[in-house]
Amino acid sequence: MLARSQAKGDAVSGDKILLTGGAGYIGSHTAVALAEAGYAPVVLDNFSNAKPSVLERLEMILGVPVALERGDILDRAFLADVFTRHEFGAVIHFAARKAVGESVARPMDYFETNCCGLTALLRTMEASGVRNLVFSSSATVYGEPDVFPVPETAPRWHTSPYAMTKLASEDLLLAMADADPFWAFGILRYFNPAGAHESGLIGEEPDGIPNNLMPYLAKVALGELPHLNVFGDDFPTPDGTGVRDFVHVMDLAEAHVSSLRTLLDGSGGHAVNIGTGEGSSVMQMLASYGRACGRDLPWKPGPRRAGDVAKLVADPSLAASVLKFRTRRTLDEMCESSWRWVTRNSR
Ligand code: NAD
Ligand code: UD1
Repeated sequence: MLARSQAKGDAVSGDKILLTGGAGYIGSHTAVALAEAGYAPVVLDNFSNAKPSVLERLEMILGVPVALERGDILDRAFLADVFTRHEFGAVIHFAARKAVGESVARPMDYFETNCCGLTALLRTMEASGVRNLVFSSSATVYGEPDVFPVPETAPRWHTSPYAMTKLASEDLLLAMADADPFWAFGILRYFNPAGAHESGLIGEEPDGIPNNLMPYLAKVALGELPHLNVFGDDFPTPDGTGVRDFVHVMDLAEAHVSSLRTLLDGSGGHAVNIGTGEGSSVMQMLASYGRACGRDLPWKPGPRRAGDVAKLVADPSLAASVLKFRTRRTLDEMCESSWRWVTRNSR
């Protein structure tokens, strides 16, 4: 029998789900989707890459508070205490370091947070008898694939220390599932998350100059950066610019609900792509963001970024069959929601 929400102060009712890194970009949107699906999310975060005010925003969206446990996943005593005070039906593990470039400069920090953080969590789950885990993986585990769209059977290899941590984490979970049927893991390989909750109250908030396309475009649209540098216009793609599978963060959030349901109903573990199956180029994204903000955005062609692949698009058919999950939202909706978020939150 799954735990029902019992601890004092938890206003959201339903099965309790722990969200490590739940105050972050994808975790906060997933907290909304879980609460709307009748679960009681409990956010665990050390706020190394999020602000505590996210919890107030979640309460504004949901009308009820979301429980918070402030601390570090590497702190085993803290984790044990959290699992003593709550009875969780499952865990969704978002907490990680995620900047590819930084991982090249600081590989040990990435291994420690992403891999040691995972083992600390798994040890605590094991001791507490919690057996279901949804894990944030990434299309980065496919390296530079040569099959399009990319199926889950494509070879996995790493091209950065960040990717190495995701690959090692996946492999650990797969080996544990083989070794002990106690465990059930939902490995979700996200393609390119983009956009924000429709309220404009939560969204992606990178520090400094963004590395990724959509937050960079947002800053160009706000006038905080002069133009988009288009990294390469000579790729073998229809307009020569890079093609990616952008997936609306609320669709991605709902994929976690589908994965969780699949684990909780005993249907077993899975490792699936979460994407739309549709590729969009940098120029298409630029045009879509221009429609959202109401003006043509300035851009300049530039050299390719080291390590960038021409095209990365998911084969989403396994998620459709195993999770009954399909994305619903369009590229324009991603850009409109991002624009709403940044205009409501820019100083
Ligand atoms: P994010 O940085 O916004 O969220 C991660 C959260 O984890 C942050 O709130 C941070 O404060 C917290 N955190 C980090 N280290 C922690 C620790 N030691 N203890 C407790 N909390 C800690 O990132 P996100 O974009 O929401 O990504 C969530 C997950 O999805 C990550 O595992 C990331 O690798 C993966 N992912 C993200 C993307 C993407 O484009 N955003 C793509 C593929 C996979
Ligand atoms: C990046 C990460 C990847 C991660 C993914 C999730 C790198 C090398 N890879 O992938 O590990 O899983 O984000 O979101 O960081 N572009 C520009 N100008 C910019 C920024 C980007 O032209 O200022 C182009 C890129 O060349 C690429 C496309 O936009 O063609 C998307 O880039 P980005 O948003 O950084 O995502 P990925 O490179 O797919």
